[in-house]
Amino acid sequence: MREGQPTAVHREAYAAPAFCIDTVDLTFDLDPTKTRVLNKMRLHRNPDVAAQPLRLDGEDLNLARVLVNGGGTSFKMDGGQLVLENLPEGPEPFDLEIFTTCNPEKNTQLMGLYVSQGTFFTQCEAEGFRRITYFLDRPDVMASYTVTLRADKNKYPVLLSNGNLVEQGALDDGRHFAKWLDPHKKPCYLFALVAGQLVAREQRITSRSGTEHLLQVFVRPGDLDKTEHAMNSLMASVAWDEARFGLPLDLERFMIVATSDFNMGAMENKGLNIFNTKYVLANPATATDMDFGNIESVVGHEYFHNWTGNRITCRDWFQLSLKEGLTVFRDQEFSQDMAGVASARAVKRIEDVRVLRTVQFAEDAGPMAHPVRPDSYVEINNFYTVTIYEKGSEVVRMMQTLVATPEDSLGRAGFAKGMKLYFERHDGQAVTCDDFAQAIADANPGSALAQNLSTFKRWYSQAGTPRLQARGVYNAAERSYTLTLKQSCPATPDQASKLPFVIPVTLGLLNRDGQALPLQRAGTADSALQQTLVLTEASANFTFANIDSEPVPSLLRGFSAPVVLEDGLNANDLLILLAHDSDPFNQWEAGQRLMMQSAVQALTQDITGPVLSDELVTALRNVLRHPGLDAAFKDLALTLPSENYIADQLSVVDPQRVHALREAMRLQLATALQADWQWAWDAHKHNGAYSPDAQSSGRRALSGLAMGMLCIAAVQSGDDVTPGRVYQQFKDAGNMTDRVNALSALVVSGHALSHDALERFHKLFQHEALVIDKWFALQAGAPDRAGDVLPRVRQLMKHADFSLRNPNRARSLIFSYCSANPAGFHRTDAAGYVYWSEQVLALDAINPQVAARLARAMDRWSRLAEPYRSAAQVAIERVAAKADLSNDVREVISRALN
Ligand code: PHE
Ligand code: ZN
Repeated sequence: MREGQPTAVHREAYAAPAFCIDTVDLTFDLDPTKTRVLNKMRLHRNPDVAAQPLRLDGEDLNLARVLVNGGGTSFKMDGGQLVLENLPEGPEPFDLEIFTTCNPEKNTQLMGLYVSQGTFFTQCEAEGFRRITYFLDRPDVMASYTVTLRADKNKYPVLLSNGNLVEQGALDDGRHFAKWLDPHKKPCYLFALVAGQLVAREQRITSRSGTEHLLQVFVRPGDLDKTEHAMNSLMASVAWDEARFGLPLDLERFMIVATSDFNMGAMENKGLNIFNTKYVLANPATATDMDFGNIESVVGHEYFHNWTGNRITCRDWFQLSLKEGLTVFRDQEFSQDMAGVASARAVKRIEDVRVLRTVQFAEDAGPMAHPVRPDSYVEINNFYTVTIYEKGSEVVRMMQTLVATPEDSLGRAGFAKGMKLYFERHDGQAVTCDDFAQAIADANPGSALAQNLSTFKRWYSQAGTPRLQARGVYNAAERSYTLTLKQSCPATPDQASKLPFVIPVTLGLLNRDGQALPLQRAGTADSALQQTLVLTEASANFTFANIDSEPVPSLLRGFSAPVVLEDGLNANDLLILLAHDSDPFNQWEAGQRLMMQSAVQALTQDITGPVLSDELVTALRNVLRHPGLDAAFKDLALTLPSENYIADQLSVVDPQRVHALREAMRLQLATALQADWQWAWDAHKHNGAYSPDAQSSGRRALSGLAMGMLCIAAVQSGDDVTPGRVYQQFKDAGNMTDRVNALSALVVSGHALSHDALERFHKLFQHEALVIDKWFALQAGAPDRAGDVLPRVRQLMKHADFSLRNPNRARSLIFSYCSANPAGFHRTDAAGYVYWSEQVLALDAINPQVAARLARAMDRWSRLAEPYRSAAQVAIERVAAKADLSNDVREVISRALN
C-alpha cells in the first residue's frame, strides 16, 4: 500500500506459482472489531517450478500463529508477505495452519472483510483475499474450500458462504455456526461470506436437464418488496445461458445478497453473488426504467460469470478482459434477446455504443489509455475500465461477426461452436485471452477470424481507437462503385506506432431515393442487401458491380467495429440515411452526425444564428412523427450528443462554449418542434399499470424528453402553464420514471417550481437510500445558470443524508458534479478544480479505489483551453504533492501529469 514507491507489474514477467493449494479450511469467529480467522491449508510444491520459499500475500492482518504439519516453524515478513523458507522438501503435500485477526469495522476500503449496516460482507476481487488471511492471492491458484462461520445468533442469524450448507447448529454463549462446502475449485478472488440479519426471496427452478436448484435473493428486512425484478432477471439468465450456449447452472443453490456499501456494481463470487443494492432493489415506485434495465443486465452479467470467469478463470490479471469483455458481450446479448423485436434490440445496441464512444473512446484518447490486455499496471483496481469491459466486449462481438457464414449471417452459430470448444479445452483452468481467441478460431476453420487470427489479436495488444477512412467513387460508364477503406491509429502513451487492425465493416448501399441496392462484389455472383467487408491491411479497395446511379454508402452498420468512421458524407447524404436507412443504428447515427457537424461548425467557425439547419429540424420532426418508428428509438434520435462527446471532437475545448452551444441547440429544437413535443407528450403518456418492458419504457422515455423540451420552451417564453402541468405530473406520477422525468424537466429548465419539487421529493423518499442518491445527483448535475451549482454541492456535503464513506452517496453528489456536469465543474475561477482536489484527497484517506475513480475526472485536462488548462494542472499537482497518496490515486495522477 503506502510503503515506498509504487512498482509496476508486467505481463511478460508471469511465472507459474511455486506452490499449489489443494484445500483450504477456513474458520471465522466473526466480531466487528476483532474477527479471528483460522486458515488450514494443504499445499504441495509445483513440480514444474524450481524449489523456492513460499511467499504468502497479506495486508492489514495481525498474525498470531503459523504451524507446518502441526508444529511450529520459522518465518519472516518481507514487504507485507509472509515468507516460509523451511518447508518440507519433496512432492508430498503438507499442512499449513495460519491464525490471524482483522478489524472489519475499520475497513473503509470495502476490500476484504467489512461491515455494512451491521452485516458482514467480503469483497475479494482483485486482491482483497489477502486482507482476510495470508494466501497465494493470484487467480491461477485454484483450491477446494470448506468454510465454517461462527457468530452471535441474534445479531447474525444468517451465515452464508460459497457452495452448499453442510452443517449448522448452536454454540455456547448465544453463538451459532454454519459450515459451507464449495464443490467447485476456485481462485480466492471468488471467495465470499455474508453474515447478518437478512431475509430472502426464494424460488425453486428445474433446469432443462431436470435438475432442481434453489435461487435466493437476500436483502435487509423491509426490502423484500423490491426483489421481484432481480429474481425474474436471475431466472431469465439461467434459462438464457442454457438456451443460447448450452451452459447450465452447476450449483444446487445460487444466492444473491445486496449491500448498500460497495465499490463497484456487483461481484460474481461462486454461488454467492454480492451486489450493490443499486443493481438489486427495484419497485415501480422507487426505481426508474433505467434502474430496471441495469438490474436485468447486471444480474445477467454476474450469473454469466459462473461459466465465463468462474469455471474458466484468468491466468493473471492482465487477462481480465478474458472474463469481463466476454461476460459484457454475453450480458449485452442477453438484454437484446430480452428486449425482443429487432427495433428494441437496436435501441439496446445504440445505448451500448453510446457508452463505448463517450466513455471508452475518451479513455483511449487520454493518459490512461491501455490495451484490452494491458502490458503493465501499478494498481490492478485501476484497470477495471471501460476498455477492459466495453471495448473487450466489442472485440468478442467482432469475433462473432468474423465467423459468420452465408447460412449463419450473424456468426451466432459459429461463435457458439467456439464457446463449446473453449469449454472442452479449458474447463477448470486459469487461461489467457490467446486461449480464448484460439478456441473461437479453431472451431471455425476457414473463417475470416481463423485466416487473420494473429492480426486480429492486435485488438488485444494495441491501445487507441482506430480511424477508418472511407471514400467511394462511382463509375457511371462501368456501372461500378469502388470503396476505398484506409485505417490508421493515433499514438497512445506507451505505443507510438500501430500496426493495422482487422476491421469488419458491415455495409449497405442506398440510392438517392433511399432504396437499398443489391451488393454484388465485382467478380462474384451472389448479391445481398448487406455485406461485411474485412479490412486487414492499411488500405484496400472493394468494387461493387451493376450499380445504376451514385449510391450513398451506409457503413459500419450496427457499429460493426469500435472505430471512428470518417466517411466524408455530406449533409444531403446523411439526410438520406436519417430518413431511409434500414439499419436502425446507422439511421440514428446519421442524425447524430448531422447534429455533431452543426455543433462543430458553430464552435470552430464562429457561426451565429440558429445552429441546426431547417432541413435537419424538418428531418428530426419527421422522425419524431414517424408512425413506423418506436418511441424508444425516437427518444435516442432526438437527443443531442452529450457535451462530453462534442468536446471529444475538438482539439481544444472550452467547456463553457460547448455548454452554451448545446443549450442553444436544445432551445432551438424545443421551440421549433414545440407543437410536435406537445403531441409526443400527449400521445405517449400512459396511465396503466407499470411494466418495465421495452415498449412501455420507450413510451415513458419519449414523453419524458418531450416534457423536458416543453419546459425549456415554456421558461424561455415565460409560460407557467406547462411547468404547472409538469409539476402536477410530478405529484401524481404512478411510477418513479415519470416522477423523476417531471422533476428533472423542472430542474433542467430552471423553473421556480423545481425548488418546491425537490423538497417534496426528499420528504417523500427520505427513507429510500437509492432515491436519495437520485436527489443528490439531480442537483449536482443541474445546469449551471449563475455559478450556483458548486455552492449548492458544497452545501449538500453538509446535509444530514450525505456521507463520504458510502460510495453510492459519494458518487451521487461528487462524481455527478465533477464528471457529469462539465459547465458546472469547469469554472473560470477554478473553484471546481479546487473542490475536486479536496475530495480526491479526502476520499483517498477512506477508500483509495473510489478516490482513484474520482481522480480520473481530470483525465482530459491537457486539451482544455485557457484559463481552464493551467488551473487544472495546478489542481492535479496539488494532489500529486501529497506524500502518502495511495498507489491507486498515485498511478492515475502521475499518468495525467506525464
Ligand atoms: N468482477 C465484477 C464484475 O464485473 C466487478 C468487480 C471488480 C466488483 C472488483 C468488485 C471488485 O462483475
Ligand atoms: Zn464482470
